[in-house]
Amino acid sequence: MINNVHKSIWLFIAGVVWVGVACCAPVQAETPSAEPTNPFYNDHAAAQKGEELFGRNCQQCHNSRGKGGKGPQLVRGSWAPGGANSDAFMYFTIVTGRPGTPMGSFATSLSPDEIWQVITFLREESQRVKAAAAKNKGDEEPW
Ligand code: HEC
Repeated sequence: MINNVHKSIWLFIAGVVWVGVACCAPVQAETPSAEPTNPFYNDHAAAQKGEELFGRNCQQCHNSRGKGGKGPQLVRGSWAPGGANSDAFMYFTIVTGRPGTPMGSFATSLSPDEIWQVITFLREESQRVKAAAAKNKGDEEPW
């Protein structure tokens, strides 16, 4: 009786492990995806170029350092490090704009490298904003 219980527990565990391997291994094998990635990831010099480009092209709506004004903020919440919005999504938004809103397309006025520099700047700024917020709240995650 006890042996049978043990046996079914082991069969159950073996089954869970097998299903886990069978279902998840191929998913991991499919990454990385075809989404465009930032060639200047964590590159401070690129972020500085991006800051200048942001000042000339974006600041009038998104305010200084992307903190939000006429246009939405771009450095907190879902735009924060690890937030829901990916680099690829930001790139797509800047290239295509948002039809029907003041957010225009920058496909002709900025090169792909320049767009990635702006994104690098916004990501660096969001790290800074997050660190400052964490300091103010006693290292508590603000989001
Ligand atoms: C003329 C004003 C204006 C300018 C200039 C502008 N934006 Fe925007 N942007 C907006 C507005 C307004 C929205 C919100 C659109 C909407 O309602 O979906 C927006 C949305 C965005 C979004 C999506 C935000 C979100 O939360 O969904 C990103 C990213 C963005 N802008 C980046 C930029 C960058 C980078 C630049 C400069 C290269 C720029 N914008 C220039 C007005 C502007």
